[in-house]
Amino acid sequence: MQELKEQLARRRTFAIISHPDAGKTTLTEKLLWFGGAIQVAGEVRARKAARHATSDWMELEKQRGISVTSSVMQFPYRECMINLLDTPGHEDFSEDTYRTLTAVDSAVMVIDSVNGVEAQTIKLLGVCRLRDTPILTFINKLDREGRPPIELLDEIEEVLKIQCAPMTWPISMGKRFRGVYHLYDDTIAFFDPQAEKGTAEIIQGINNPRLDELIPDQVDEMRSEVELVRGASHTFDRAAYLAGKQTPVFFGSASNNFGVQSLLDAVVDLSPPPQPRDAIVGNSVGNSVDKLTRTVTPDEEKFSGFVFKIQANMDPKHRDRIAFVRVCSGKFERGIKLKQRSTGKTLAINNAITFMAQDRNTTDEAWPGDILGIPNHGTVVLGDAFSEDEDIQFTGIPCFAPEHFRRAQIRNPMKMKQLQKGLQQLAEEGATQLFRPIHSNDLILGAVGTLQFDVVAHRLEFEYGVDCFFEPYNVSTARWLRGDAAMIQQLAEKSGVNVALDGAGDYVYLAPNRVNLNMTREKYPDIVFLETREIH
Ligand code: G4P
Repeated sequence: MQELKEQLARRRTFAIISHPDAGKTTLTEKLLWFGGAIQVAGEVRARKAARHATSDWMELEKQRGISVTSSVMQFPYRECMINLLDTPGHEDFSEDTYRTLTAVDSAVMVIDSVNGVEAQTIKLLGVCRLRDTPILTFINKLDREGRPPIELLDEIEEVLKIQCAPMTWPISMGKRFRGVYHLYDDTIAFFDPQAEKGTAEIIQGINNPRLDELIPDQVDEMRSEVELVRGASHTFDRAAYLAGKQTPVFFGSASNNFGVQSLLDAVVDLSPPPQPRDAIVGNSVGNSVDKLTRTVTPDEEKFSGFVFKIQANMDPKHRDRIAFVRVCSGKFERGIKLKQRSTGKTLAINNAITFMAQDRNTTDEAWPGDILGIPNHGTVVLGDAFSEDEDIQFTGIPCFAPEHFRRAQIRNPMKMKQLQKGLQQLAEEGATQLFRPIHSNDLILGAVGTLQFDVVAHRLEFEYGVDCFFEPYNVSTARWLRGDAAMIQQLAEKSGVNVALDGAGDYVYLAPNRVNLNMTREKYPDIVFLETREIH
């Protein structure tokens, strides 16, 4: 189908990754502004400020409707339709952040020129690496006295183990910041914080005499630096970028709008359209089902998509949720009949929503790369898939080992059943995980970020009527157990306090510390200890 080919070729689906305060919110807002999706810069930052200002969870509950809409932002830019997926990266850091990265085809990494590579960037890049996601880099805050650009590139290469290919090069920084030289277009964009779009003038050619006129005292330094950079750095190699081995680097200042348009242009020009995805498909053969692995390509005419995120909706009393579906192939049309993998049922999807220009609209059509929101009452699960007639399961949607653990306790023991139900249902949304140690009746909650415990306690109270609190629990990390079943059984019998079952009934080893984990590993060489497990 020609239309399908055209529509998917114009899709760009990406997320921004960064350490808190590097400028992700500012950049998101400026991208939306350059894309014409918002009229006044300030909307996104104002919302973030409002979220930060409140420590009251009721307030956050009220705002949840907003966070649903802002978690996916779709807008047209040039010949493309851009889908920008938000990865909550602040205190509300959770598994959703990680899993969202499995739903994109590329990412933009924001680095603060003053702070360089920071902890959360390293973590998030590690997740991108699981799928070799192509990464564009934006080095932000050039209007501040940051670290020398060469040093920043070295640090990215060394710490993140990815080649850097500078696409632009800054003319000094801080008070002396004058703009950037585009190494491939041979143009110079001059920085002017007063100009509406951050750029005063663009001139062609590094030997242009206008350059000597505009920055007489910096021009020599700039020319020799550019020569040095050309000689000493990697040249852009599209294949290496698409393979996740090289990152094109842009410099700018998001709050001053500077360098943002070049970055958006790079998303259009360099980033890949929707990519193929691996899946396990089942075909009925007589009475049995034959399972085989195959790659689903986006230009296949039959619709398919997978659920990478579940978010509770506005009204907590109704427990309705929105399942975020990444479209992988085919065309979505309102009313389309789709088979849901987890239930095996076929449903007519009449009420899916899209996220055009930040509004939730009931959608008539969507294409590969787009995100659909499907309202439901808990019947759609993480990792679920929807498809036309084929029994399909996408692989590579991970569940990550939590880094924080707490034991759930209640004040009123009569509410035990509600507590179990609540913890189980909230864990199904995917931001927390529930573990039940084999040798105790404890309910252990694991999360990637500690804020999730507050969220769960609050929601248990308001949605399930359970007054619950969380105690410290002596576990520092978890590993899923695979391999020799008898060995796993043996380990479970010997260290049943450390072996638990997760929500999916999988065996997990809960290690009090690294030393214990390493010793257990050595003792049970036939067991594989996995840091992530696939959702299935
Ligand atoms: P985040 O989402 O990654 O956490 O970062 P965010 O955009 O909120 O930016 C963090 C801080 O960095 C903000 O300052 C923001 O204004 C500032 N910032 C972003 N881009 C630039 C830039 O290019 N240059 C400079 N100098 N600063 C930048 P703040 O003090 O937290 O807030 P505000 O007072 O600016 O509102």
